[in-house]
This record gives sequence, C-alpha cells and structure tokens, in this order.
Amino acid sequence: MSSSAGTYPPQEGHAETNEELYRRFTKLVSSWPCSPALSNYQLYRHENGWHGSLAPMVGTMVADACFAARPSDVVVATLPKSGTTWIKALLYSTVHRREHPVGSSDHPFNSLGPHECIKFFEYQLYTGNRIPDLDELPDPRLFATHVPFASLPRSVLASGCKIVYVCRDPKDHLISQWSFANKFRVRDGLEPLSVEAAAGFFCDGVSPFGPYWDHVLGYWRAHLSRPQQVLFFRYEEMTRDPAAHVRRLAEFVGCQFSVEEEEDGVVDAIVKLCSFENMTALEATKGGRTELAFGAVENSSFFRRGVVADWVNHLSPETAGRIDAVTEARFRGSGLRV
Ligand code: PPS
Repeated sequence: MSSSAGTYPPQEGHAETNEELYRRFTKLVSSWPCSPALSNYQLYRHENGWHGSLAPMVGTMVADACFAARPSDVVVATLPKSGTTWIKALLYSTVHRREHPVGSSDHPFNSLGPHECIKFFEYQLYTGNRIPDLDELPDPRLFATHVPFASLPRSVLASGCKIVYVCRDPKDHLISQWSFANKFRVRDGLEPLSVEAAAGFFCDGVSPFGPYWDHVLGYWRAHLSRPQQVLFFRYEEMTRDPAAHVRRLAEFVGCQFSVEEEEDGVVDAIVKLCSFENMTALEATKGGRTELAFGAVENSSFFRRGVVADWVNHLSPETAGRIDAVTEARFRGSGLRV
C-alpha cells in the first residue's frame, strides 16, 4: 500500500484545497527518478517500484488519499493492453443487463465506449485537480485501474470490495503496448521505438505500470490468498471460452444468470455484444473519443487486432526467447503460467 500520503503530509491544521493536494503529489512524483521508457512519455519510478507517467501517478495518489470504497464496489484491474476494454464491456453489460438489455436501441454502448462506462481512477476520476463526488452513484459502482496491487487505494483493500484482474501473455502485451505508444510518439513528433528497443525497456521493467511480472504476481498472490475478493482471468483463456468467463464473472460479482436467462441466450448475447468484431463496428468506437488525463483519445485506438500470439509477426525468436526466459525465472514457484 502506498505510504506517500503519510510520508509527505500537509501542514498540520491546514485544510488542503484540491489544487494544493494535487500540487503536493505532483511535487512528490516529480522528485522521483524519471527515465525514457516503452511509452510516449518519460516514466517516473514510484517508491513502490513501478513506473508511470506524471498525471496518472498523481491521480493514483489522490485516489489513495480520497477514494472511499464500498464493499459492493467492483474494481477492474489490468496492465494496459491486457484486455481492459474487453473486460470492462463484459462487466458493464453483465451487471447492467436488466436496465440495459443487450440489443436495446438505447444501450449505452451505442453512444459510449467501455472506458466511459467504467472509468479509471488515475486517468479519469482523479485528474485535473478534481475530487469527484462518487457517493451518489448507485450500487454496485464499477471502477477501473492499471495500478499494481500494492498501490491500490487503501480503502479498496480495507472495504473487501471485488477486484477483477485480467492478465495477458507478456509478448502480446508488449506488442500491443509498443503499437499504441508509437502511434502517440509519432503524434507528439517523437521517433517511433523499434521493437527491439521496446523489448529492452520492457525486460528492464520500464513500461507503464511495470515491471509486467511484478504487476501480474501482485494480483496472482492476492487471488491465491483472497479468492473471494480477487478474480484472476487470462486474456488467452477468455478468447477460448468467453461464455464461461462471463458466467464466472457474473457469479463473482453476485449477479448470476437465471435459468430463464440461460434459456434465452443472454450469456451468448453479451459475448457477441462485447466481441472484437461487434465493438469495432459500433459508432461509439468508430467516431467516439474518451477524455483521459493526457487528452482525448479516439475509442478506435483501443482496438487493433484482438488476437492471441500476434507477437510472432513482430518479435525475433531471440527477443521472444529473452522475454520467455525472464517470465520463466520470475514466475517460477508461483504456480502461475502465462
Ligand atoms: S487499454 O488502453 O489498457 O484500455 O487497452 P486494453 O483494452 O487493455 O488492450 C487493448 C488490446 O485488447 C484488444 N481488444 C480486444 N480483444 C478481444 N476482444 C475485444 N472486445 C477487445 N477489445 C480490445 C485490442 O485489440 C488490443 O490488443 P491488440 O493485440 O493490440 O490487438
């Protein structure tokens, strides 16, 4: 858990404004080591050992200081480029299937991307000097984060609320992250990274919210010790049997499908609604944008190929072998295979 709120306190007896709180954490993050990385931004190194750009790192700390979790909340946790958009779509459409039946003409997905339906703490809710009032939101409130388990807002762990984690093969995660980062590097007038340079940063752990292995192991161990609180999915297994994952997800968050719903094919309808093919064809994907801490992003940029093992088209056998060797060494003895 982050100790930063405690290690860098405001002056005693002084009620801090939102601006002062954000300024205090901005000053703290800016004092940490910063380096070029697998990103279009330089990344800071958090005192808990992970890397992030300035605004989401500050947002993480503001969320830690201000977010009040409820036991009924559900938090989606992922590394970027690991299936976040997909699991958000599946969770939102599963939890809200009664008020928003799949196929209804006013389904939110017709106008909003999954990132607008379930918002990130550090990229959307706690940004721009804002402390949002989340008390009025009806239960169950759905949130998301890319932050490692050790830096989750402390109230999330204290509340016992549910956490849904999705991990992805490190090589596919890398290729997806590399493609995304290069799009933004080119936009920002930077040289695109070669895939070898990206793999170098990745293996050194200097990737957003990385090192990858620490992130995955943090949630894996949390899942092993608190299986009722932390669900652990793999992107590759989701692609093999999405319907089984939707059922497990519904059960985990306490909204199982009834016999009637099963007979009516509701699970398959949710799978189809959230499929890569369907989501990419939606107007909200083709023309919509999502406001994030670093600006508005086209919803279409969250979709690329959506397949398993696309890394074979980009990584040399040597580079792939290097990543496999690190993964093997880091995961040995954990019971985790990716
Ligand atoms: S982000 O920016 O963190 O929200 O990105 P994230 O959604 O985690 O990862 C993007 C990759 O997920 C693929 N994707 C999907 N796969 C399967 N089904 C659905 N519905 C889906 N939506 C997005 C997306 O194409 C990215 O993977 P790559 O390998 O780059 O195609």
